[in-house]
Amino acid sequence: MAEIGTDITKAAQLLRDGQLVGIPTETVYGLAANALDADAILRIFEAKGRPHFDPLIMHLPDADAVKAHVCDITPMALKLMDAFWPGPLTLVLPRQSHVPDIVTSGLDTVAVRVPSHPMTQALLRQLDFPLAAPSANLFGHVSPTTAQHVHDQLGDRIPYILDGGATTVGLESTIVGFEEGMPTIYRLGGLGVEEIERVIGPVHLMLNQSSDPKAPGMLKSHYAPRIPLHLGNPSVLLLQLEGKRIGFLGFNLPLRAMTMERQRILSPKGDMKEAAHNLFAYLREMETMDIDVIVAEEAPGMGLGKAINDRLRRASVQ
Ligand code: TXA
Ligand code: MG
Repeated sequence: MAEIGTDITKAAQLLRDGQLVGIPTETVYGLAANALDADAILRIFEAKGRPHFDPLIMHLPDADAVKAHVCDITPMALKLMDAFWPGPLTLVLPRQSHVPDIVTSGLDTVAVRVPSHPMTQALLRQLDFPLAAPSANLFGHVSPTTAQHVHDQLGDRIPYILDGGATTVGLESTIVGFEEGMPTIYRLGGLGVEEIERVIGPVHLMLNQSSDPKAPGMLKSHYAPRIPLHLGNPSVLLLQLEGKRIGFLGFNLPLRAMTMERQRILSPKGDMKEAAHNLFAYLREMETMDIDVIVAEEAPGMGLGKAINDRLRRASVQ
């Protein structure tokens, strides 16, 4: 069984030995391995039970370290690095040839990011290689936001989990690439679109690329909760689902007609950051409730609300 602890030196040694370690980031917990060791990367896919090889994100301590693995950094990419690293932004850039194919799924680009979590910053600085790290959940499950979540799903498959507390952002990083020079968002996430546009101007959105081999891994329905989730107007859904035991995932207000035991409110004060922080943990809790269906309402569609709604849509019955 995996040990949960705070020993960064131990984590570094395991990673040097080609082993897997659960690591905290500000977004979600990652399942990390040496990104330059193809055998170690294979273990990531085995442990997660991924049916196919999705490209992974390489994590590095700072922009200078990133520059040793990518090429053709445009002025726009530089602006984004300066503005948002370390932080919840992943950039997709042309890769250098030494980056293993198994990290990029054979693409000529690689996803790179500089996480801000102090524990993982310290870990990356002890290593002379980048860490490839997908979210530390089993395939098809919601991303973990605590060390215990990682332990629940992967505890019997990895030796060590670094415990850095509950993640602050709670949503995966926002992924930005460049399509013929145009900035393009491949995944909504912990950095708001508006914040990006404030720095580089208008960006395209290119989501749900499941049929496009250029962006594998962006499956439309990536995560399906164990209990079916319906997204929409709560009063309409409550009528439609009459007779079923319903749980409610609300944005800021509870339903008066329902016992609080079956409700989770993402942010009673209507704060988008708090809502993002709570989303995955609440979905996990609701999966263990004695209910037949989850009714969820959308967050207001601005800032992180866009990413929250994206995850809710992917989790919902289509
Ligand atoms: O916040 C995060 O990004 C977390 C933490 C652990 O850093 N990591 C994470 O990794 O969410 P993962 O593997 O669950 O998601 C990586 C996404 C995939 O959807 C994949 O399609 C996309 O990144 N991706 C990776 N390389 C790519 C590339 N070269 N081009 C386009 N998309 C890429
Ligand atoms: Mg994931």
